[in-house]
Amino acid sequence: MSLSQVASSIPASPTIALNEEARLLREKGEPVIHLGIGEPKNKTPITAILSSAAKLASGDVKYVPTDGTPSLKKAIVRYSEENYDRVVAPQNIIVSDGAKQSLFNILFTLCNPQDEVIVIAPYWVSYPEMIKMIGAIPVIVTPEDGSFVPGFNEIERVVGSYTKAIIVNSPNNPSGLIYPEDLISKIVDLCERKGIYMICDDIYHKLVFDGKVAVPACKYTQKDVENSKVILVNGVAKLYGMTGFRVGWVIAPKKLVEIMTNVQSQTTTCVSPVMQAAAEGALTGMQSIVESLRLSIQNNRDVLMQELHSFTDVQCVKPQGTFYALPDFKAYCRNSVAKNSVELCQFLLKKALVVTVPGKEFGMEGHLRLSYAGTVKELIEGIERMKWALDPNAPSEIYIGDRKLVRDWL
Ligand SMILES: Cc1ncc(COP(=O)(O)O)c(C=O)c1O
Repeated sequence: MSLSQVASSIPASPTIALNEEARLLREKGEPVIHLGIGEPKNKTPITAILSSAAKLASGDVKYVPTDGTPSLKKAIVRYSEENYDRVVAPQNIIVSDGAKQSLFNILFTLCNPQDEVIVIAPYWVSYPEMIKMIGAIPVIVTPEDGSFVPGFNEIERVVGSYTKAIIVNSPNNPSGLIYPEDLISKIVDLCERKGIYMICDDIYHKLVFDGKVAVPACKYTQKDVENSKVILVNGVAKLYGMTGFRVGWVIAPKKLVEIMTNVQSQTTTCVSPVMQAAAEGALTGMQSIVESLRLSIQNNRDVLMQELHSFTDVQCVKPQGTFYALPDFKAYCRNSVAKNSVELCQFLLKKALVVTVPGKEFGMEGHLRLSYAGTVKELIEGIERMKWALDPNAPSEIYIGDRKLVRDWL
């Protein structure tokens, strides 16, 4: 079969592939614990349900403007004023099928083949693949000191005449860290000096812990949305736990929005008005829902850190936001069960029925990404099973319900 080389070179999203594997195992009755999944367990906010149900009940579910319904855009204008202190016109906004499509549209609209986009490791799995899909080149900056936050000079050093943009995701998936304000302000300054776009993936911006704040990049520009290089990406998936609704948006200069709208009009036409009504309901409804989600996830983070302490050979940088942590499991990647993070994940899934995601997929080999978006019970049991599987001194068998797991390794 003769297929596109570019398309054929793109792997499935590893997180989505793992979700599917876990789903199939559960369907077979396997008691799988999913520490891989990037979505909170909360119910959809009632205001989102009511507003989308009303739209559906109207029977008037047709094509709507490609760049978003006027009423959702109005809600986004207000959200931007309240959360970013930023005056935004409706023409600066385009709504897409999740932040994922927003990011793809931005990259497709900005880059020519061979242009470069800077990505900071650890990074969200989809950035490099999207950049490759549009024929551009991902330039990965991996912090030299082994941390999860690069020095500004490490970023500045890779900027060249082909650099089109830098993607900044803070709070960061997968490390859970918030980049220091000083780094953010220097990147804004660099981008504005060099005419590079700064794509801020703010999808977790309110899921921050211990009173910390992820200060938005636009705070450091004197320029208005129309003239600034800062592009903002956001959505309802993470803050409201509305991953299945597929609504994200971009705030950018009008010309860029206009071209992204043309692109989207040729690909997906528009986001379903039912889903846009749901997003509007979430944005305009009670915001205490975000705060209660944040508090429960912060509690889960604390439980995870506590549980991880009992691994003598695992270090974990304490997450400051998101619902992910990226502990260092190198000590367990150099023995007979696993030589790297991919093998370690496979081993944990097969032997302990726990889903984790290999650090390799995020540009951090030797680490595992653990999600603590689920329940405390699952979190505790998941880590206990991992300890059982990896600790040579653990008992030779454990029971999961009435199912006996037997150690036949290490
Ligand atoms: C950093 C980051 N950006 C974007 C997305 C995609 O968001 P959405 O579900 O709105 O497409 C995710 C989802 O996991 C993410 O982690």
